[in-house]
Amino acid sequence: MQIFETIRPAQQQISEYRKTGKTIGFVPTMGALHEGHLELMRRAKAENDILVVSIFVNPIQFNNPADLEKYPRTPEKDNAMLRQVKCDMLFAPDVEEMYPEPDNTIYQFGKLASVMEGAFRPGHFNGVAVVVRKLFDILTPDKAYFGEKDYQQLAIIQSLVKQFSIPVEIIPCSIVREKDGLAMSSRNIRLSDNERAIAPKIYEILKKAVSLRKVLSPFEMEQYASKELQKIELFDLEYVSIADDTGLQAFTHWNDVNGARIFVALQLGKVRLIDNVRIF
Ligand code: PAJ
Repeated sequence: MQIFETIRPAQQQISEYRKTGKTIGFVPTMGALHEGHLELMRRAKAENDILVVSIFVNPIQFNNPADLEKYPRTPEKDNAMLRQVKCDMLFAPDVEEMYPEPDNTIYQFGKLASVMEGAFRPGHFNGVAVVVRKLFDILTPDKAYFGEKDYQQLAIIQSLVKQFSIPVEIIPCSIVREKDGLAMSSRNIRLSDNERAIAPKIYEILKKAVSLRKVLSPFEMEQYASKELQKIELFDLEYVSIADDTGLQAFTHWNDVNGARIFVALQLGKVRLIDNVRIF
């Protein structure tokens, strides 16, 4: 695996790959890698000649300074995992390299960015768009892989690519879960034993809510999930939302949309967790 911490040499390596006609699959990450990340990488490796991964904890997408400061960093373990999936190239710049000057671009994602994570984490998606666009510019992947764990982020990236005609195909990947159902996340290692034990309730409750689809309206399902989550003392619920699976907007009747998901964000101790489940 080749490791690049600076942009120029990374770009030169990419153009070498291009000269020999190799296709590039790209998985952007913030490190503290887990099995969820590895699934994206295995798929990218299988569907392209070259697997490129980036690790960059992007400060401008953190609306909460404490969250940025506490964000887990496990570089040695990450390297071992990258070798395990036969990553060809790791791009791991520092903040100075990525932002020698502040990038003040303001993106417009309309209603897509005004709900859920967009509403609760002001500036978050703009920061994500800035960094992902920059990474696409530098690494020029043919395909880029994003997890449905961050479903709204995936939708934002799809919109970004359309708006700016970026020649990359975005590949959505299913959520990878622990055996007990908890969605894998870099932040999970910051949970105490108690918190970790209760965390699988999130997925349990979402699944139970979804199973009631034939008897509950979208509003009632949202209320049901919200009530069940609030019963758990350690959960500090931010939102439960049922939204259509493309525009991510609320709706009244199941018949109004072609697909829907239920989304949740909550604080568990010092850790903010998100999850979502497909309804249909
Ligand atoms: P990060 O949280 O490291 O996630 C990197 C990618 O892995 C994202 O596409 C995310 O959705 C996916 N992922 C994380 N946990 C997953 C799981 N349990 N199952 C499936 N996929 C999962 O998302 C980011 O980094 C950043 O915002 C980034 C896109 C790198 C921009 O900074």
